[in-house]
Amino acid sequence: MDRYDAATYGDRIADVYDDRPEVRAQAIPVELLAELAGSGPVLELGVGTGRVAVPLAARGLQVHGIDASRAMVQRMHAKPGGDAVTVAIGDMADLPTPGGPYSLAFVVFNTFFAILSQGDQVRCFENVARALLPGGRFLVEAFVPDPARFDRSQRTSATRVAVDEVHLDATMYDAVDQRIDGEHVILRDGEPVRMLPVSLRFAWPSELDLMARLAGLQLEGRFGGWNREPFTAASGTHVSIYSKPGG
Ligand SMILES: C[S@@+](CC[C@H](N)C(=O)[O-])C[C@H]1O[C@@H](n2cnc3c(N)ncnc32)[C@H](O)[C@@H]1O
Repeated sequence: MDRYDAATYGDRIADVYDDRPEVRAQAIPVELLAELAGSGPVLELGVGTGRVAVPLAARGLQVHGIDASRAMVQRMHAKPGGDAVTVAIGDMADLPTPGGPYSLAFVVFNTFFAILSQGDQVRCFENVARALLPGGRFLVEAFVPDPARFDRSQRTSATRVAVDEVHLDATMYDAVDQRIDGEHVILRDGEPVRMLPVSLRFAWPSELDLMARLAGLQLEGRFGGWNREPFTAASGTHVSIYSKPGG
């Protein structure tokens, strides 16, 4: 997408992110993350407004984050307890950590796919592996790609229709680059059009496993959701846990 960089998604959505229905519908998986983290410290990639990091820090864990969007991080720091999360502003492929090494690094809600090339995704895995303690873990939560959602490489759908407003999702799919470029468009009578762009480079779980192996990490377990549901061919999402040898 033209003029789209690592900060675009967050900068454009920050003021409404926490109220978005798809965000409110997400689980806040603090129990499992705290269990995997042990005594920490913990690193979240794409920490955003602290939806997950702030409640995790409230449990007494040292939590660090990385995000490309200052606007998202400002929202976190304005929340009660938000200052407990130490943040580095930058690209998570470069992994500019504010500390470490970590017992747990995690990236949730499809955020790993915001790294827009395979090469940068591999580099991210390598940097995470370097930032982990021996025996440390890297948890990735992401959707399982479903090209059948697209008709002639595109999809447009309405997500809200009301008397004075319509919300539309318009997406285009590129099978070669494994990219999805989308706009959430909000049309409200009497107001300027609001555009919330998002670009993703998706990967199947098997490709993520290969990236992990290249980085020296091994798949420890994979669930079909946060309640440790079995991962099957019907799963639309996965929670994958990679670990670093040693420890
Ligand atoms: C969908 S939000 C998730 C935020 C938070 N993890 C949550 O679950 O609510 C994605 C976040 O990743 C950030 N982001 C996107 N691309 C990034 C990149 N390449 N490097 C660092 N952060 C990035 C965005 O600014 C945004 O805050």
